[in-house]
Amino acid sequence: MRIGLFDSGVGGLTVMAACKRLLPRASFVYYDDAEHAPYGDKSDEEIISAADGCVRALVSAGCDAIVIACNTATAVAVRRLRESCGVPVLGLEPAVAPALRRERGRVLLLATPATARHKTYPPRVIVGVERTLASDVERAYGCPSALRALARRVLSSYSGYCAVVTGCSHYAHLAPYMPCRVYDGADGVARRLLSICKGTAE
Ligand code: DGL
Repeated sequence: MRIGLFDSGVGGLTVMAACKRLLPRASFVYYDDAEHAPYGDKSDEEIISAADGCVRALVSAGCDAIVIACNTATAVAVRRLRESCGVPVLGLEPAVAPALRRERGRVLLLATPATARHKTYPPRVIVGVERTLASDVERAYGCPSALRALARRVLSSYSGYCAVVTGCSHYAHLAPYMPCRVYDGADGVARRLLSICKGTAE
């Protein structure tokens, strides 16, 4: 089984790592769409076109299933991609529901502008719209002290939350530096991928 994943940069690597943990024998192809990064402040048309290009490239590379390792492309384009693609397409969703089940207080969902405009959330969710954070993470990637400083800076802009939900795969790289529980959608999509690969999905 060959699995294709794409993102605008290093964010989707966290999703690929989660998928590899559950499917250690599958082969993985990762498409880093740096050419169109960042996705989060682009129009729907631009995001759909970029995501469509990624999916075509991965299908041409022989992938049997595609994981959109990007919350933004999922929020904007997943339906369109499913219609136009001949293989299963899985999207990355923020883990808001698990966070609300476990936490009693408010949770902070950090998301790109494009993701935020496509979804509505219950009042217990504080939606933090971050315009440049994905690009900031891209630059800080591989440097723990820069990632730590970035996590501190971002969280200092918000108050009144007890946990964080990452609504952009790039932000998962900040999770180890956040002094609270962090909920991420990567394990959820990896589990769905596993069930598709086992042929048990609906
Ligand atoms: N990592 C992506 C996401 O999950 C894209 C971020 C961006 O390029 O703005 O939303």
